[in-house]
Amino acid sequence: MNKIDMVELFAQARKAADYAYAPYSKFRVGAALLAEDGTVFTGCNVENRSFGLTVCAERNAVFKAVSCGQRSFKALAISTPDSQSPVGPCGACRQVLSEFMEPASPVLFGGSGKEKVNTTLGVLYPFDSLHDLANAEGVDPSGAVAPI
Ligand code: THU
Repeated sequence: MNKIDMVELFAQARKAADYAYAPYSKFRVGAALLAEDGTVFTGCNVENRSFGLTVCAERNAVFKAVSCGQRSFKALAISTPDSQSPVGPCGACRQVLSEFMEPASPVLFGGSGKEKVNTTLGVLYPFDSLHDLANAEGVDPSGAVAPI
């Protein structure tokens, strides 16, 4: 009952990829985030003709969920149907995900082929600077961090 159904979460990410707005890269991405309360929030990449304004599927899923009051996520699946091999989240998305997900949380990603990568956020985003700073010896546990 409490076991996370990553296959189902991946299926939802795959469906979300169909909503991608990716006329420039032609590379669709879908993400599905499982919130603490069991709700699944999906996201797709939304590109712009001013390329730098593009937002990834993962961050769209996070922002959608936080906008609906969810701030804690148990798992993430990412589908990239336009690549045969799995494509992991970009660096910016890893950082944003780390704000709301534990390092042990599962992350599954896959392309159109059979291969899937089944990992955790902590593997994708190790040495999380801010979390490590907060846990470092001598740091005020109230959250105050001395400037470096
Ligand atoms: N993209 C994502 O949506 N997520 C990632 O983690 C990597 C890249 C999108 C951005 C752009 O629309 C397209 O994929 C090609 O980079």
